[in-house]
Amino acid sequence: MRPTHRPAPPRRIRLIPAVPTAKNFPPRFTWGAATSSYQIEGGWDADGKGPSIWDMFTRHAGKVWDGHHARTGCDHFNRHREDVALMRRIGLQAYRFSVSWPRVMPEGTGKVNDKGLAFYDRLVDSLLEAGIQPWVTLFHWDFPYALFLRGGWLNPESPKWFSEYTAAVVDRLSDRVAHWITLNEPQCFIGLGYASGEHAPGLKLDLPEVLLAGHHALLAHGRAVLAIRERAKLKPVVGWSPAGSVYTPATDGVEDVKAARRATSAIYPDGLWNNRWWGDPVVLGGYPEEGLRVYGKAVPKAAKGDFKLIRQPIDFYGCNIFHGVPVKVAADGDPVAAPLPPGSPQSLYLWHQTPEALYWGPKFLSELYKLPIVVTENGVSTADQVAHDGRVHDNNRIDFMIGYLLQLRRALRDGIDVRGYFSWSLLDNFEWQEGYKHRFGLIHVDYVTQARTIKDSAYWYQEVIATNGENLSRHLPAEAAPPPYVVKETLHYIDSHVGEPFNVKHLAARLRCHPDSLSRRFKQHVGVDLSGYIRQVRIDHAREILKRPDALIDDAAEQSGFSDRIHFTKVFRRVTGMTPGQFQRQFRVAGGSKGAGDGLRSENPRSAAS
Ligand code: FCB
Repeated sequence: MRPTHRPAPPRRIRLIPAVPTAKNFPPRFTWGAATSSYQIEGGWDADGKGPSIWDMFTRHAGKVWDGHHARTGCDHFNRHREDVALMRRIGLQAYRFSVSWPRVMPEGTGKVNDKGLAFYDRLVDSLLEAGIQPWVTLFHWDFPYALFLRGGWLNPESPKWFSEYTAAVVDRLSDRVAHWITLNEPQCFIGLGYASGEHAPGLKLDLPEVLLAGHHALLAHGRAVLAIRERAKLKPVVGWSPAGSVYTPATDGVEDVKAARRATSAIYPDGLWNNRWWGDPVVLGGYPEEGLRVYGKAVPKAAKGDFKLIRQPIDFYGCNIFHGVPVKVAADGDPVAAPLPPGSPQSLYLWHQTPEALYWGPKFLSELYKLPIVVTENGVSTADQVAHDGRVHDNNRIDFMIGYLLQLRRALRDGIDVRGYFSWSLLDNFEWQEGYKHRFGLIHVDYVTQARTIKDSAYWYQEVIATNGENLSRHLPAEAAPPPYVVKETLHYIDSHVGEPFNVKHLAARLRCHPDSLSRRFKQHVGVDLSGYIRQVRIDHAREILKRPDALIDDAAEQSGFSDRIHFTKVFRRVTGMTPGQFQRQFRVAGGSKGAGDGLRSENPRSAAS
């Protein structure tokens, strides 16, 4: 199990009841799923790919559960088209995947492997054809072995190596990719790879070397952001995905909330699982005082200009949150862990299910760094199997997602700027030192036949996406009351008459009620403003029409119930941030070989109205 810092255990807890009341996610919220290259691709030496540290690490007996490796993985390298078709079926709006550095540069620097990049071309093109937005992670742990032999992240040249590789990927994909994530979880690849040795490359170094490697990784992040901003063809939206521990208050008492906030921003001496050692340099431009005190002499000497380089403007703060540690305030005022009662739900990984982590994590991190948040990973490993009826009934995953997503919605209700949610993971896959023991996927994978089976949770997630989270309300007793007749009729009418130019007044007259009372009841039960809802349905409809190769803007306007093209363009622009023509052009180019993104969500989240 991953080590997470836990302060000394005390006695008793009362969990905060989860009673989120906000009805909806914002209209432009991004729903996606995530994977990483080594965990799914396979094709470990295909088309000129060089070995990564994970290719080598998995060869050593005793490093990975049951001797597993991912030389074939989910064979996504050969089956990406099938996988994209499955994503489309689930209705994913975005897919976060990582690029394998040694596939693109077999030696890590120098020669670029065109065939390796061509794989990502094919993947990106299939995604865009399916209307799914690609989110590219540049580094999710499969470091080139050739560079490990030259010192890996300990080599002061490593940030430059990374920016050289970043430039190659950006040059190739940024005409179609707008969303970029530099590093995935430095706490993990440095902490587990260089300190505890549980992950590749399996080193157990002392703190000064570990922090030095971490410093280089942070510099690599900064250089990568610079490279993306300098070279990207589509306006880039850039973030990173660290993995700091989240602490949640054990009760709703103000002091416990303070304790959890304090723990989430604390730096404890026995590990790297904190947020601020990593987040402060990236967002605030320096190591935190507390870290300098706690790590003392082990802190690396930063060269002049290092922090300027590390602190590049980013557009969102990615959070990979799977669980949190409940804490309460101790007599001396410090946070102490408040263990969960025996029998509390936990995953196959023995991670406790603590849905409130998806409320407090985004809340505390947005307070600290004042950036929009994207949940770049959240999910659970459950004991899934294909049942006799051929389906995978992973009810525990559905329950996990309901709990966590309701808490995320609560965060949004409280004004936290959360822009998206990516379920970990799209597919069951190779879970690092745990091999194939765990199944985190929305899609079940049979590793012998490579057969894919969409799990019940994916069908349920499909509904979450289609209703933009509205179906979550069904799971809250207080919100489960069926909507009154007028609201049901209104929803039905809007859905089936989208091409007609009705408004709230017309609807109210049809249903023989006052427009104000209809709007009030609609808002009460659906959670959004009625006229805004009508507008959104019309624009969604128009977008579908505009995706067709032969569509005319006038037709899209008329068939979506707009009285004229000028009004349509105005509303379209307000809702999507682009004109119908821009939307259409980008989509069209993407439908060919190389072009822009699907235009749905390529905006800079800072400027996105939500
Ligand atoms: C995250 C990793 C991801 C996967 C999940 C379960 O920390 O980023 O690759 O291992 O945990």
